[in-house]
Amino acid sequence: MKIKKIFLMCACAFGFTCVRAQVTEFRPAQMWPDTNGEHINAHGGGILYHEGIYYWYGENRPDRGFSTEVGVEVYTSKDLMNWTDAGVALSVSSESGSPIERGCIMERPKVVYNKKTAKFVMLFHLELKGRGYEAARVGFAVSDTPTGPFRFLRSLRPNAGVWPCDFTEKDIATARAQKESDYKEWWTPEWRVAIVKGMLTARDFEGGQMSRDMTVFVDSDDKAYHIFSSEENLTLIMAELTDDYLDYTGKYIRIAPGGQNEAPTIFFRNGKYWLIASGCTGWAPNKARMFSAPSLWGPWQQHESPFVGEHANRTFGGQGTFVLKVPGKEDGFVFMADVWNPRHLRRSRHIWLPIEFNEEGTPIIPWRDSWSLDQLK
Ligand code: GAL
Repeated sequence: MKIKKIFLMCACAFGFTCVRAQVTEFRPAQMWPDTNGEHINAHGGGILYHEGIYYWYGENRPDRGFSTEVGVEVYTSKDLMNWTDAGVALSVSSESGSPIERGCIMERPKVVYNKKTAKFVMLFHLELKGRGYEAARVGFAVSDTPTGPFRFLRSLRPNAGVWPCDFTEKDIATARAQKESDYKEWWTPEWRVAIVKGMLTARDFEGGQMSRDMTVFVDSDDKAYHIFSSEENLTLIMAELTDDYLDYTGKYIRIAPGGQNEAPTIFFRNGKYWLIASGCTGWAPNKARMFSAPSLWGPWQQHESPFVGEHANRTFGGQGTFVLKVPGKEDGFVFMADVWNPRHLRRSRHIWLPIEFNEEGTPIIPWRDSWSLDQLK
């Protein structure tokens, strides 16, 4: 990169016009230069489309190390291929003891626009400085403009003191009867049954449910939902947000309890909600999992992974982060994933692939070395 910069500086000094080559196609898992020629540093990200402009929010990662030194970065684009770095949307705090103190971990930020309040709302996975991944919290931030700066509001564990809305009195009693101390060993068949019965829902009832990998989904009626990996990454939760998107209504369900799913992505097509997630193997890729439901409240049914072809059982080396419904395309959905490079997280690559559908309407995602938007229906 340094050599490139020196070359550009010399070229400009000698009067050459400095025009960077346009990106004209998507090249999954290749380096993806922004309009400054730097690889896009927005990982675990998501896209917001607002008034003709796309905003890509993601983790600004350092080249070395795992904690957040800068914050959430935002890029803008009009064509989804050429992205301009619009700076830090949400900055870490230099104040010692702040939940977002530099050195915390901010992951998987998602921004949605609230029509009622005319505010941009950001939710992100937050881990507190020096505590690894044990805090398992969600952070809320807000801004009047899409590029920010976003103002950090608070962090929490969702739905403290509230049971899932589909739990009966009997389910609550059963969950309460499951005690972690009864299981000296994890992963035994009995332990798994206890998880499904809500052992951890009950354990975390008072303080709120754990919240790690996450996404936010806005439905056609403008209601928004926070979907996150909970219960030690064993169970996904889908929780309804209040009308201003800044809190929870208290209505939530568990999806695939004990199924060990994370990196959730979600979209709606032809009367069905589709949820594509990964298994839990840290930065290493694994086989994706897919679920569908006629309503966000379920019932959720599991399907085969949508990925097909060579390396499909490792999600082509990536882990999902968002599904973009392309505006103006009737049937255009793009699956976005990260190819994590834990030694140099900043250089982690991006996989964007179009989602195809078979005759039954089931999503299928084959690999492509390159593709362009005109291939979407
Ligand atoms: C993955 C997760 C990433 C990050 C990573 C840390 O499982 O999807 O967002 O948290 O673990 O090891």
